Amino acid sequence: MEKISASEITPEHLYLTRRQFIATASAVAAGALLSACGAPTPTPTSGVALPAPKASQAADELGDKLTPYDTITNYNNYYEFSLDKESVAPLSKNFRTSPWTVQVGGLVNQPRTFGLEELLKFEQEERIYRLRCVEAWSMVIPWIGFPLSKLLAQVDPLSKAKYVRFETLYDPKQMPGQQNSFMDWPYVEGLRLDEAMHDLTILATGLYGKPLPPQDGAPIRLIVPWKYGFKGIKSIVKIDLVEEMPISFWMASAPHEYGFYANVNPDVSHPRWSQATERRIGELSRRKTILFNGYADQVAQLYAGLDLRKNY
Ligand code: MTE
Repeated sequence: MEKISASEITPEHLYLTRRQFIATASAVAAGALLSACGAPTPTPTSGVALPAPKASQAADELGDKLTPYDTITNYNNYYEFSLDKESVAPLSKNFRTSPWTVQVGGLVNQPRTFGLEELLKFEQEERIYRLRCVEAWSMVIPWIGFPLSKLLAQVDPLSKAKYVRFETLYDPKQMPGQQNSFMDWPYVEGLRLDEAMHDLTILATGLYGKPLPPQDGAPIRLIVPWKYGFKGIKSIVKIDLVEEMPISFWMASAPHEYGFYANVNPDVSHPRWSQATERRIGELSRRKTILFNGYADQVAQLYAGLDLRKNY
């Protein structure tokens, strides 16, 4: 990974505390610290197997081949475990995902805490989506999950509820990255209520027909296929219906770089790089990025009248 000095990439107020972290962190490139998915890399990283998808494998809605299981589960972003994508899988190996509960509340008529067994009883559907990371790479992942709207219907949102706020587990003993106080833990994400109710928005509990492995967000995570991958919060323990727009982990960590919407938009550059192209993991040449990750027909109406350059 190319070397970029921390001061070039980091707002001043974060830079000082960051330096303390860098002093103790081992061999982590500074360029990765504050980008949702790491700084752009022109070629595949070494050390992790990134085989091209086999021709016999199924494809996604655009005819793109699936990314191999081994790649999906060995090249991860999960800052609670590591800033290094290839270290997440080994470090999260013993993460306890049972027992697990998800508390759903806030502006609802019937707040409830769901055990994982209950959540797994929701109808299981296999869906193949492209998970696209913020500036550099994408994968095609056959998620298993159920529409988030199914869960929200159980708690009966009040009419005052306008947004949904999600929270990841906070457990620094199990998640060593949370021992670093330069970032705001727990990881938080948010959706507008209509985005959350859209049929494409799912809570994923598995991939490739198997239960979700820890590195991909076990036991339950969010997938919003027309948004950049960083919206897909992992290992969710709390979901609240709220009136105000939630401040996401990335908005809090780098407010000048990450907005609330996070829609895949090739015309809006990240302040430090273009988002016009991406590298599909397993391919050498870059591809053109497609608006809304190819789901414009299904989701563009959610943003009618919204300036997507300002609301990025
Ligand atoms: N969720 C939590 N709790 N912590 C994280 O660091 N990283 C996000 C998202 N969800 C992240 C997270 C980012 S930046 C990306 S690109 C995706 O997870 C990566 O998902 P994957 O590792 O399953 O491909």
